Formats: sequence, structure tokens, C-alpha cells
Amino acid sequence: GITRHYKFDINYTNLTRLCHTRSVITVNGQLPGPRLIAREGDRVIVKVVNHVSNNISIHWHGIRQLTTGWSDGPAYITQCPIQTGQSYTYNFTITGQRGTLWYHAHISWLRSSVYGPMVILPRKNESFPFPKPYKQIPILFGEWFNVDPEAVIAQALQTGGGPNVSDAYTINGLPGPLYNCSSASDTFKLKVKPGKTYMLRLVNSALNDELFFGIANHSLTVVDADAVYVKPFETEWLLITPGQTTNVLLKTKPHSPNATFLMEAKPYFTGQGTFDNSTVAGILEYAPAKKSTTAKLPVMKPTLPSINGNFSTPQVANFTAKFRSLASPKFPANVPQTVSRKFFFTVGLGTTPCPQNTTCQGPTNTTKFAASINNVSFALPSVAMLQSYYAGNSIGVFSSDFPQNPANPFNYTGPAPNNTNVGNGTKALVLAFNTSVEVILQDTSILGAESHPLHLHGFNFFVVGQGFGNYDQNKDPAKFNLVDPVERNTVGVPAGGWVAIRFLADNPGVWFMHCHLDVHTSWGLRMAWIVMDGPLPNQKLQPPPADLPQC
Ligand code: C2O
Repeated sequence: GITRHYKFDINYTNLTRLCHTRSVITVNGQLPGPRLIAREGDRVIVKVVNHVSNNISIHWHGIRQLTTGWSDGPAYITQCPIQTGQSYTYNFTITGQRGTLWYHAHISWLRSSVYGPMVILPRKNESFPFPKPYKQIPILFGEWFNVDPEAVIAQALQTGGGPNVSDAYTINGLPGPLYNCSSASDTFKLKVKPGKTYMLRLVNSALNDELFFGIANHSLTVVDADAVYVKPFETEWLLITPGQTTNVLLKTKPHSPNATFLMEAKPYFTGQGTFDNSTVAGILEYAPAKKSTTAKLPVMKPTLPSINGNFSTPQVANFTAKFRSLASPKFPANVPQTVSRKFFFTVGLGTTPCPQNTTCQGPTNTTKFAASINNVSFALPSVAMLQSYYAGNSIGVFSSDFPQNPANPFNYTGPAPNNTNVGNGTKALVLAFNTSVEVILQDTSILGAESHPLHLHGFNFFVVGQGFGNYDQNKDPAKFNLVDPVERNTVGVPAGGWVAIRFLADNPGVWFMHCHLDVHTSWGLRMAWIVMDGPLPNQKLQPPPADLPQC
């Protein structure tokens, strides 16, 4: 591979959406940020310069970062943030991945405007395992806030209540024509020619919602998920959770001069629907375009599953079950067939007591919302865990006793289980190098069932099983797929159900795992793994770079 250099200037940019102008923190003045392109095997070097008053760090979501954990990016996990006026150079090699990944700020809610696509092409003399698309177009879903999202989450954490929702979803930064005060120029347009195959590189960069997506009158063929090829399958719509990426092929009609079609994304939310801020639309426009497509909207809309349905949940389960690894000689699925360590994690919402003599806005006015794994609501330390781990001194930073199982097993998906209390902690789980790991991620219906997109840094994992209700360790393992399960870095733990993942701990360092709904992350639905060095030189965490930020 070759080395590719990028420079990211984090600065303020005035942007107007929905008739609101706001000073937004961006990468190089762009929303979404600039496209980063590399081939498998390339080294990528990105100098990030912070020109704003907030601290910042950038995460390269899904990049394995083999032995280069210092470049992973989550603030206070692998690095201290880059302070105002400072810079840090991320330096990593893309190993064994091709498809679409993305980068985003990894501190507080700054990723709402600091994010962009990473296009990873196959190695120079290699091709896709499908016909080469005519064009490749990144499509990033996001959220627009009329007010500063940093103020939104700060207020929510202070009062213990739920944060205000964003004002619109966006496609490539644009809310589209279905929102009030959103003009044609605020609409993403995909201009296509008839009779061609386009590859859409879909990324869900939204803060807080899993999204359905579809294009009227066009089906899509899924070929890649989280930068791993999958067995192609055709679908009318997709569900994509925050953090996930999906490459789809779009075949345009043989003859459709002047035709336009709507594409839409809208949330799948299984709770009370408070996060429904409606639908973002873009336009698929066949060449040659009519003079003005601004006057009238295309009439054809895609048919998407219904919002806020426990109705949609079976449809979603059917959809996610279609993802299978290629598992071909060239692209094998190296699923751990046996595991040496098994963990059982409950993931869900809960509460912590409100400080005395104050009123909170949690589920009751004496409680605050919290979220946890095994009832531990993870508190970020004040120095980076990786730094203190590398220095061999974790005292006062973190402990290594993260619970491997829930303290008191209960009926996780039954009605109103009385297990809502969560405690704070900064705890990790330590794994020896090359441990094969299985984690059961069990959703809890403690405060309304909701699915949780769990993201693991530093690894891909195989999703070997999923189901509804409580995981049954006597029956469910027999149904695991150890042949061609999908391999990814983010998986939706279904509302009122569970998923089983397996991975090989072959990457030394400290690795964050968390719900990719930012509100749940902020409430503590996160933890960290520590993977020890292996015996060989290339199995050890590299020394920290000289410009690593200090806290
Ligand atoms: Cu895309 Cu830790 O996140």
C-alpha cells in the first residue's frame, strides 16, 4: 500500500438549515466532512488541528487499529482530547477491510457535525466480488439541531431528564423537502443515468436513531456491511443503526428520462416515539433533468416499515437475519468455533438517585435517567485509560473488575423488572492476547424496550445468534451460526431480545464498547476491554506517538 496524508482543520462554520443559522463545528468547513479515500493496505495519516474552544478527538469508526490503539480516538479511553490550538496526528494502516467506514468526533455530542465517510477500495489489482459499479456515492444520514447540541446534552445530564431531540434528520447534511422551511437547495439530489449500476455507501451517522431507508420504485442489493463483504441480497428497504455502514447496489431503470423518485430515511423506534422527528427525503433524478424539479415533489415515495412499531420489530429481525458473510475461499469467515471466555451483559436503561434536595427530570423527580451494562453505568476517567494502562498505573483511573455477569439475574424482558438501580464505575475487563470471546448482549425492558446498537472498537465480531425474550444458555447455543454469520463492528441488540457475538482478542490495547445512541452512551451504556500484549513483536501495542495529547 501507499501512504495518504490528510489535514483536518476543526473550525466554526456558519450553516443555515430549517431557516436557522448556527455556528457549527466542522471538519474543513464541510458538513459532512471531507471524503477520505484509501485502499486496503494503505497507511492513512491525518493531522487534526483544533481551532475551536471545545476539546476534540476523532475516532476512525470500524478501523481495526491493529497495535495502533493510540490512533483510535475515543476521548479518555485511548487519548486525552486535543485541546484548543493543539493538534494530533492519527496514523494507522488499513488491514483486511474494504468497503465503507467513517470517522467522527468522539467526545460529548460533537459528532453531530464532525463526521465524514471513509471509502476503502480493494487493493490495487483486486476487484469487487460483484460487477464494478459505474459510480460510488457516499450517503450519510445525520441530524440537524437548531440549537447547540452540546447545550442539549449538558442540560439533560444536569437535570437527569431526556435530552431534546434534533430538529431534522439529514442526508449528506441536508434535511430535504418534507420539513418546514427547508428549500430545494437543502435537498440531497442523486443524479443518475439510466441503465447503470451505482454503489451507494450508506452510513448512519445520526446521533440517536436507527433509520429505515429506501428509494421509491427501486430495490437495492446489499453487498457489504461494516467494510466486510456479505452474500448479496435484494431488499426494498434497509434498517441501519447508528455506527453501521452498508454498501448497496442501485440498478437504474433502462429508460427513465426526466423521472424523479423520492428516497427517504425515517426512524425505527420502539419506545414512546419521542424521537420521531419525521422523515428526511432526497431525490433520485434521472438525466437529462427537467429545467425545474423544484416546483413539485416527486410523487413516488418508498414504502418503509412503520415508525415506532413493535409492529416493525419482526420485520427488522427478518431483515437483519439476511446478513451473511461471504465465507468464500478468498473471503473466509474465521468464526471462533470454540470460546475460552464467555460473558453475559445486560444492556439497558435504568435510574440513579437524584442528589438530595434537588428535583430531577428522570422517570420520577427523585431519579435521573441512567444506562448501564450489568448495572454499571460507566463514568469516563479524567485521564486516558490507555495511557495509564501503558504506564502500568491504573490507580485512581480505572479498576479491572467489570462484572462478567449480572449480579442478580432477573426476568430481563418481563414486565417492569425491579432491577432499575445502577451504580457508577470506571471498570474494565482484561483479556489475555488471542482469547476467543463470546458475549451475550441481553436487552432489558427496564424502562421501555428499545434496541441498542452496540459498537466494539478495535475488532470485528461475528453475530452468531439472535433471538427474542431471555437468552437461554441451555437451548440457544445449539442454534448458533458458526458457518457464515455476519461480521461487523456494530450490532443492534433487539428490543426485548438478545444477540450473541464472538471475536478473537488479537489486538492489544484498551477498547471501548458502547451503545451508539449518543444519549445512551452519555448515560453510561459503555465499558472497556483491555487486551494484553502477545509474545511476538507485532503482537504488542506500539509505543505512544510523541504528540499524543495530555490531559
Ligand atoms: Cu462510532 Cu465509539 O464510536
